[in-house]
Amino acid sequence: MYNVMFAKPPLMIEKYPGFEDFDSYLNNDVKFRDPVSEDKFRTAPNQPSIDCYALNDPIFHNLNKFIKQSVKSYCKDILLTNSNLRVTQSWINKNVTGSQHTIHYHANSILSGIFYFTENATPTTFYSGEIDQINLPIINGRSNEFTAAVHFFTPMKGDLVIFPSKIQHLVSTNTNDETRYTLSFNTFATASLGKHEMMTYVEF
Ligand SMILES: [Fe+2]
Repeated sequence: MYNVMFAKPPLMIEKYPGFEDFDSYLNNDVKFRDPVSEDKFRTAPNQPSIDCYALNDPIFHNLNKFIKQSVKSYCKDILLTNSNLRVTQSWINKNVTGSQHTIHYHANSILSGIFYFTENATPTTFYSGEIDQINLPIINGRSNEFTAAVHFFTPMKGDLVIFPSKIQHLVSTNTNDETRYTLSFNTFATASLGKHEMMTYVEF
C-alpha cells in the first residue's frame, strides 16, 4: 500500500464552448511589441500584445466569463477555498514560425492561465522545479507524477489551462507554418489573505 503524502496542484484543462472566430481580430487588430531579442544569436522571442488587459476587449466578453468561472472552480475543487481570485492582467502572445518563449513563471500572481487560439500549436512545457539529483535508470523510459521533471501539454484550439503561477514553463521553437496565438492571464486575491489570529492577515 502506498499513501500519497503531498502533491502539486494539477493543470486544469477546460474546453471553451464558444464559437467566436478570433482569427481576424488576432491577425489584424491586435498590436504586438516588436520582436526584439535580448540575444541576437538566439531564435526570435515571443511577442506579447501591447494591451496588458486584453480580456477587457468586448470580443472576449464570453471567454472572460468562462475564464472567471474556471478560476472559481479551480479555487473550490483544488485549493479548497471560496476566496475569489480576480484576473489582474491579461495579454495575447504571438509566436511566429521560428520563435520561442523562454522559461519563466508569473510573479505576483496565484493562478495563471493560457487560452489557445491555434490548432496543433507547439506544446507548452511545464517544469516540476524538483532537482533531479539522483538519476536511477527508468524502466522502458516510463514516468509518472512522482518521477517526471517535465510535463508537455499539447493544446487543441479552444483549450484553457490553469496552473499555479509559480510553475515554470516555456514554449519551444514554433516549427509550424502557422503563427501561434495564445492569451495568458494572472490572478490575485480580491479582498484579503490569511487570518488575524495567525498574524498572516493582509487586507486590500
Ligand atoms: Fe507564461
